[in-house]
Amino acid sequence: MQILKYVFQQHGDERGQLVALEEFKDIPFEIKRVYYMYDTGEGIHRGFHAHKTLKQILICIHGSCKVLLDNGEEKKIVSLEKPYEGLYIAHNMWREMYDFSPDAVLMVLASEYYDESDYIRDYEEFLNSIKEEK
Ligand code: TYD
Repeated sequence: MQILKYVFQQHGDERGQLVALEEFKDIPFEIKRVYYMYDTGEGIHRGFHAHKTLKQILICIHGSCKVLLDNGEEKKIVSLEKPYEGLYIAHNMWREMYDFSPDAVLMVLASEYYDESDYIRDYEEFLNSIKEEK
């Protein structure tokens, strides 16, 4: 499984750092939605779903967390701990987010508006959808 982690350009000077993200330039899709998770409790695991079409980029803009990616055949764990790194997650990829540091802010840039019908929340259904795609 190929992991696509973007390292965004940092505009740093004596005042500090700044990262700017533009759709179709730094982000390979139109950004229709932004959401973020914070105050995530110790030991909490979130996610446990895949998407039928949605593409996302996850950026831990403060603190750190881990993301488990599962394409139905292989699993990989990615650590997000830099505000200038973005993890690309394509559709049909099961994900779980965990090990949030108490100060973690996990921001997600998404290619579509929120649509519950795009979610696959059942793991067996996810495995079947992978088989159907082949
Ligand atoms: P949920 O899908 O449970 O988060 P997770 O990524 O951990 O699976 O979302 C939590 C709640 O937030 C749920 O009530 C749906 C709502 N929500 C929105 O209204 N818009 C969104 O863009 C997202 C991601 C969630």
